[in-house]
Amino acid sequence: MHTNNTHELLKLDFNENSLGMSNAAKEAVIKALVSGARYPDKQRAKLMTKVAVMNGVPEQQVLLGNGSIESIRAVMQMLYDKALNTNVAFQLVIPAPTFGCAERHARSLGVPVVKVPLTADSYDLDFKNLQKAADEFNGITLFYLCNPNNPTAIMTNTKVLKAWIKDAPKNHYFLLDEAYFEYVTDPSFESGVEWVKNELSDNLIVVRTFSKLFGLAGLRVGYAIANPQTISEIESLMSTDNINISGAVAAIATLEDEDFLAHSLKTTTQARQMMETALDELGLRYLPSQTNFIFYEIKGDVQTYIDRMREHGIAVGRKFSSIPNYNRLTLGTPEEMMIVIKALQLFRENGWV
Ligand SMILES: Cc1ncc(COP(=O)(O)O)c(C=O)c1O
Repeated sequence: MHTNNTHELLKLDFNENSLGMSNAAKEAVIKALVSGARYPDKQRAKLMTKVAVMNGVPEQQVLLGNGSIESIRAVMQMLYDKALNTNVAFQLVIPAPTFGCAERHARSLGVPVVKVPLTADSYDLDFKNLQKAADEFNGITLFYLCNPNNPTAIMTNTKVLKAWIKDAPKNHYFLLDEAYFEYVTDPSFESGVEWVKNELSDNLIVVRTFSKLFGLAGLRVGYAIANPQTISEIESLMSTDNINISGAVAAIATLEDEDFLAHSLKTTTQARQMMETALDELGLRYLPSQTNFIFYEIKGDVQTYIDRMREHGIAVGRKFSSIPNYNRLTLGTPEEMMIVIKALQLFRENGWV
C-alpha cells in the first residue's frame, strides 16, 4: 500500500519521520539480530512494561500491536463480533476526510460506514452530525476519531470531545487515534489516555504509534490503551507474537533516547515554521498544524500540483476529494523544507499555485 517505485523521490507523502531511526535504535536492532531465531517474548515484555509505565497504567490496560493499525482492525472485529453475538446491527461513523484504515477494515467486514463531513468553516469535527448519525441507528456505533486529525492536522477541542464521550449511551464506542499527539503544542489538549485512567467511559479505546515522532514506521510498533476488560477482548483478536524483536528493541531504545525525541520534535517544529512563513509569503492558506504535516491551499487543480511536484522530485500527499484545493505535506527536515519551498516559489513564478 505505502509503496512507490521511485526511491529517489523526496518522500513527504506518508507523514513518516525524515530523520530516520535514532542511532540508538539502529544499534539496538543490530545487537538484537543474534536473537532473531528466538521468539520475541523477552523484548516484548520489556516494551510492554515501558509503555505501561510511560502512560501510568497497569499492563492489563495496554495492548501492543503491529503498528496502531493492527489494534484498529481488532477493535473493529471485536465490535463486529459483539454485535453478531447480541443480534444487533453495527456501524462505523467517521469524519470525512480522515485516516482511511478504519473504513477499509469496516468495509472488508461488510460493516456500513457513515461519513460525516468536517465543518465547512473550520474543518473540525461536526459533533452534532456525528451524534445524529448514531442517534438514527439502532445498534452499536463505533466512532473512529483522530485527534489531531489526518489530513487536516487540526486538533479537536478536547473539552468538547471529553464531555461528548462522557455523556454517550452504552451502545456508542469511541476509538480515539492519537498517532500525532506528541506534536500537539496547544496547551488545552487532553489525551484520551487520561480519560481511560479516570474511567470516563468503558467504551473508549485510545491508539498510539511509534511510527511518527519515534521514526519507526517500518518496524511496525503501536499500542492501544483501554480498560482491562476491553483490552482482553481486543487482545484475543490480535496475532500472537505480533511485535518482532527488531521493533521491540528499537522502540525501547528510542524511548530511552531523550535527545533524539527532543531533536525529532524540534526539527518538525522548525520545518512547520519554515513552511508557514513560506505559505504566508505566497498568500496560501493553511490549517493550524498540530502534527508532523501541514494541510495547505493550492490555487489550481490539486492532482496537477501533485504530478508537477513529483516531476520536481517531491512526493506530496494524495488528493482528498472532499476538500479540493488543499494538499497534505509531511514536515520533513529543515533542509527538505527548503527544497519544497524553492519548488513552491518556482511554481508561483510559473503561475501554477
Ligand atoms: C491517524 C493515523 N493513524 C494511524 C496511522 C498508522 O499508524 P501505524 O504505523 O502505527 O500503523 C497513521 C499513519 O499515517 C495515521 O495518520
